[in-house]
Parts: sequence; structure tokens; C-alpha cells
Amino acid sequence: MKILTIIFFIILTLLCLTRTTLSQNPSPTNWFIITKFQCTSDKTKCDKVKNVINLAGKYITATLNFKLSIKINAGFLDLCKVRKCDVIDYNNVIASASPLMIKFNDTDGKMRSFPLALYKQIHSKYVAGDDITLIINSQKDYWFRGDPLPMPVGYVDLLYVVIHEFIHGLGFTNSWDDYPLKTALRPGFGDSPSQPLFVENIFDKFIVQTQNGKSLSSMTDELNQFQYNLTTYSDQDFINSFSKSPQFSIAQYVYNIANNTRGTMGLLLTSNIQPSNQLSPNQNDILLLETSILFNNGSSIGHVDMQTYNNTSDFLMVYSYTSGETLDDKMEKTGSTNTTGPIGPKLRRFLGVLGYDVKQSYTPPDINIGIHISFNLLLSFILDVILSSVLNLDFSKVFILKANPYILTI
Ligand SMILES: *[C@@H]1O[C@H](CO)[C@@H](O)[C@H](O)[C@H]1NC(C)=O
Ligand SMILES: *[C@@H]1O[C@H](CO)[C@@H](O)[C@H](O)[C@H]1NC(C)=O
Ligand SMILES: *[C@@H]1O[C@H](CO)[C@@H](O)[C@H](O)[C@H]1NC(C)=O
Ligand SMILES: *[C@@H]1O[C@H](CO)[C@@H](O)[C@H](O)[C@H]1NC(C)=O
Ligand SMILES: *[C@@H]1O[C@H](CO)[C@@H](O)[C@H](O)[C@H]1NC(C)=O
Ligand SMILES: *[C@@H]1O[C@H](CO)[C@@H](O)[C@H](O)[C@H]1NC(C)=O
Ligand SMILES: *[C@@H]1O[C@H](CO)[C@@H](O)[C@H](O)[C@H]1NC(C)=O
Repeated sequence: MKILTIIFFIILTLLCLTRTTLSQNPSPTNWFIITKFQCTSDKTKCDKVKNVINLAGKYITATLNFKLSIKINAGFLDLCKVRKCDVIDYNNVIASASPLMIKFNDTDGKMRSFPLALYKQIHSKYVAGDDITLIINSQKDYWFRGDPLPMPVGYVDLLYVVIHEFIHGLGFTNSWDDYPLKTALRPGFGDSPSQPLFVENIFDKFIVQTQNGKSLSSMTDELNQFQYNLTTYSDQDFINSFSKSPQFSIAQYVYNIANNTRGTMGLLLTSNIQPSNQLSPNQNDILLLETSILFNNGSSIGHVDMQTYNNTSDFLMVYSYTSGETLDDKMEKTGSTNTTGPIGPKLRRFLGVLGYDVKQSYTPPDINIGIHISFNLLLSFILDVILSSVLNLDFSKVFILKANPYILTI
């Protein structure tokens, strides 16, 4: 064991030394790696965008300890050209983040969908593939830190948006959806006959009704009493059978508490609350979810309550962005510049509940480091494999090594 540890140290040290010349990522200050970057704009603009993506990674790294790097497949593209704008209007979409989700049996034996990013951290296991696909709409007007202030009307601080999207990508993603039912909600569908019909996300495991403390997970179990063979799925067939089933009223009920009724659902930030406890919406151990608006599957449930959090340090995950406001403005207004940064106290707690290792304290990233980014894919891959193969030996040492200032280049 001792010998292996020493060998590991040497290999890692060598890698770190090599990395100063080859690559800066992952570095102690940024565990997010851009593995692919498609950009159709000019080089100056593309470089600015790439810098923002890296800076977003630094802000999150300032809050969370990672064991394996988070791989980002990024694109700065005209969404209407990439996707069909006549089907869904992407003109108003600023950015989207799609986490790669994998299904497996959770600790309570229930199958859930986990973002790959989280799975890797929990199981200390390297899995090939990009964790998050980030697409930014190049047709919007962006303000970049360092550009003149105030930000012109209609402009967007891309940093704010990318950090928000990355948090979705790390697992702040609900699966309860109205598709194709319109007036009833259900979790995601399983994709093989050996799985339950409805498979929720890990995020959904922590959602409770504030009124009675009942978990949404227990409703997923109830919905799974419905027998349906997905192999022969069609939208219409599903609607026909499901709407006649005894389980349909559950799905309608969840729609109702998600639609235009403030404070009905929240994320539990502790495991100490008993399922039968009455919870009040202001309770400290709840992060209220967005249920005030007319149900919208991109905004409802998967964001925090606007009215409660917009003017607090937990502003990051509200569903809409106020144009004209930079991330720096917002942090200053809510007094979080030097305390928690963009990831407020309740969101920090939730990321911990989800399974991430949350840092004890927050130090704002040094934004002057790493303006020019080069990355080396092969090396980051090797690093991940080595890290995961020795994890059981002495993992704490990795951080000590990785925190060595000599691998920083300025
Ligand atoms: C998950 O658990 C179920 C029930 O216990 C079992 O049938 C299934 O094989 C398990 N799936 C995996 C991937 O382990
Ligand atoms: C959602 O809420 C609005 C406003 O209260 C209401 O008019 C609408 O009928 C609700 N939708 C459903 C499907 O219940
Ligand atoms: C679902 O339908 C397919 C095709 O008809 C069939 O092969 C399969 O056995 C069915 N699965 C279940 C669980 O009934
Ligand atoms: C809701 O989500 C589904 C995917 O689950 C999507 O196909 C559908 O278009 C979405 N509906 C709206 C109105 O965005
Ligand atoms: C948040 O503050 C803004 C002014 O900065 C104000 O217009 C808005 O109403 C406040 N929102 C809430 C929910 O208090
Ligand atoms: C959120 O807060 C900002 C000020 O930080 C304010 O300009 C904006 O109007 C608020 N949005 C809502 C919906 O209250
Ligand atoms: C945050 O800390 C920095 C460095 O200590 C200081 O210059 C700055 O004024 C602080 N900002 C706020 C809003 O407290």
C-alpha cells in the first residue's frame, strides 16, 4: 500500500509538472475541462466565450471539491441554424445545458437517473464521455467582464448564465414533466422493460410537499403501480391508457401543486425531518422550488422560488435572468461577493445533500489567472484514470498535491 502510494505521488507529480507546459486543466482552481468547443464566430469572440466557460468552472470549483474532472462539450452556435426554429423557437433561448444521465440503483434500492458528473464523484469511478453539453446561442448580445459598464440594455452577462447552466448540469434537474399529458405531471420514462416505467432523477428524491412533508418519490412509487409496456409506446396510446388508470389522479395532483401555487414544494436540505412532519414554507431546511408561475416544463420545479430568493444570496437558480444586471452586481446587491459567491448558502447545502463534497469556505477565484487556455485531452484522461485507480489508497493526498501552487501558471 505504501509503495503504491509513493508511486502514485511520483506519477502525479510528473503529470503536474508536464501539465504546466501542456495544459492547465484540470487545475486546483478549475476542475471543468472543455473537451470540445465549436464556435462559429470570430476568434476574439470565441476566446472570450471560452474564457467565460473556464471562469464559470473556477467559480464552481471554489465551492465544491471534485475527485474527477467535469468534462464540457461546448458550443457557441446559432441555435436556429443548429436546431429547427420552426419546431421550437430558440430565438429567446440564451443557453442550454444537458447533463449526461445514467441510471442505477440508488442506496435505497430505487432506480434513479444520475448526472454522470455526480455519479463519478460519488463512486470515484472514471466513466468515459462528456458530463455536460453546453450550447450557447451566439445570436444574443453578451457582455463580458472587463467590457464597459453599465451593461447595455438587452445584453446578457454570459458568466452568470453559464454558472447557472453548469449547476443544472451537475444535477439541479427535475424529471417531472407534462409531456405528453398537458395537465398532469410524471417523472421520466424508463427505457427498457426491465426498469420501472417511471424513473425519477436524483434531484427529485429530495422534493417534498411543504404542506405535509410527503416526498415526491413516494408518488413515483405510487405511479409505478401503473402497468404499461413501453415497447409499444405512442403518445396517444399512453395518454389513453394512463388517463383511465387509477394513478392518473396522482399525476394531476402534482400538476396542480406545481401550477401557479407558491410554496408548495421544496428541496429537503436535511435528512433529519421525518416524512410525516408538517413543514412550513419558511423553514430553514427547505429550498423552495418555483411553483408560482403557470406550469412550464423548462422553468417550473427545476428552479428556486423567484419571490423568495431573487433578492438573496441564493439568487442563482431562479428561472429568469434580469437583463442589464451582471453577476458582480447581483453578488454585491445580495452581499455574497466574498461570502458564498454565486452559489448561495442553501444551494451549497443542497449540492452537499445531492452528494457533492462542499468546501468549508469560499474564496473568490483569482480571475486574473489563466486568460489563455490550452488544454490537453489525453492528459486529462490519463489523470482521471490514475486518480480513479488509486482512490481507495489515500485520496486526501491528491488534494494536497493538486493544491500545490507550483502547477499554477500565470
Ligand atoms: C436494481 O434493483 C432491482 C430490484 O432490486 C433489480 O431487479 C435490478 O436488477 C437492479 N438493477 C441493477 C442495474 O442493479
Ligand atoms: C393552471 O393555473 C391557472 C391559473 O390558476 C389555471 O387557469 C389553469 O387552469 C391551471 N391549469 C391546469 C391544467 O389546472
Ligand atoms: C412488451 O411488448 C413486447 C413486444 O410486444 C414484448 O416482447 C415484451 O415481452 C413486452 N414486455 C412486457 C414486460 O410485457
Ligand atoms: C416539455 O418537455 C418535453 C420533453 O420532456 C418536450 O418534448 C416538450 O416539447 C416540452 N414542452 C414545452 C412546451 O416546452
Ligand atoms: C427585489 O429587488 C428589486 C429591486 O432591486 C425589486 O424591484 C423587487 O421587487 C424585489 N423582489 C422581491 C421579491 O422582493
Ligand atoms: C430580481 O432582482 C432584480 C434586482 O437584482 C430586479 O431587477 C428584478 O426585477 C427582480 N426580478 C423579479 C421577478 O422580482
Ligand atoms: C471582497 O474582498 C475584496 C478583497 O478582500 C475587497 O477588495 C472587496 O471590497 C470585497 N467586496 C465586497 C463587496 O465586500
